[in-house]
Amino acid sequence: MAGKQFKQRVFSGIQPSGSLHLGNYLGAIVKFVELQQSHECIYCVVDLHAITVWQDPNELPAAIRDVTASYIAAGIDPKKHIVFNQSQVAEHAELAWVFNCVARLGWLNRMTQFKEKAGKDRENVSVGLYAYPTLMAADILLYLATHVPVGEDQKQHLELSRDIAQKFNNDFGASIAARGHGEAFFPQPEPLIQGPATRVMSLRDGTKKMSKSDPSDQSRINMTDDADAIALKIRRAKTDPDALPSEEKGLDHRPEADNLVSIYAAVAGISKAEVLRHHGGAQFSAFKPALTDLLVAKLDPIGKEVRRLMQDPAYIDSILADGSARAQAIATETMKAVKDIVGFVRR
Ligand code: AMP
Ligand code: TRP
Repeated sequence: MAGKQFKQRVFSGIQPSGSLHLGNYLGAIVKFVELQQSHECIYCVVDLHAITVWQDPNELPAAIRDVTASYIAAGIDPKKHIVFNQSQVAEHAELAWVFNCVARLGWLNRMTQFKEKAGKDRENVSVGLYAYPTLMAADILLYLATHVPVGEDQKQHLELSRDIAQKFNNDFGASIAARGHGEAFFPQPEPLIQGPATRVMSLRDGTKKMSKSDPSDQSRINMTDDADAIALKIRRAKTDPDALPSEEKGLDHRPEADNLVSIYAAVAGISKAEVLRHHGGAQFSAFKPALTDLLVAKLDPIGKEVRRLMQDPAYIDSILADGSARAQAIATETMKAVKDIVGFVRR
């Protein structure tokens, strides 16, 4: 695809499928906030993705508003950038169908997240859970997005999105050129997976990812946890009996220690090496209170703002309506071009 320059644009999304946690915050939202300075950004609440597993219709609206409120409370500006929920822009599902016909069964069969989520009960999970990555590709490519900030767990899905973009460009190459789009219609979206906390681990088990679906609330810090809850969870967090090392190498084979140091580094905005320069030799009994103070200082104001925003659902819905209209304006143009490229007759 040498030659063609795509306008730089950021797209990312979070599922409204439970309460947001420190992994979502450090792995995704912090990056979303930073990228606003340098890029045009589109941040989506991916409700179509959420229903790939059962969501209670009585709880889904609040979950959608909660992710929206978290975006705003963390510092995303919905006026300068676009914040919306996926189901209000029907083109996501429309492009996903075209991509279902571009992606190959063999590609989807390799997706590790599907294998993990489906587990032994594979015959009984939704078709949507299997096709999930083609919808994700549609989310990104509908906006011709070039950069996608995500946590480490989404890397494989991003690679699939790139494969889909490339196969579409190849399969329809002649049609793309004939319609004046040059040699490529879709860009190759680049994953942005950077910093010390691309994979925040469970506080109860340093070998497991911190996740919304872990049955133990003690395993994660929620973005809306208050100071007492944060302090208690860090105090109870699993560790080993040794003091902190003074160099990063010393964290090898100490997953819990590595996790707490990574969290500290990410929240403080410094490297793990710097954390160890200051805290190397310290016992966890001294390091944990320092980490707690840092987390409370960062998360407490955000949690308070989320709770305040949630008091006014009509305001949140108005942000989503405005963002959806602006997203749709871009999506409509892409879909018209895609229909022409594929050869559909349209109005
Ligand atoms: P999800 O909650 O699955 O919709 O994930 C939303 C975003 O948070 C994605 O970019 C994920 O990669 C990221 N994320 C989720 N869990 C973690 C974690 N434990 N550590 C780092 N990033 C995460
Ligand atoms: N699959 C992502 C997750 O579970 C969420 C997501 C959906 C997404 N569409 C996206 C992330 C597009 C980035 C870009 O975390």
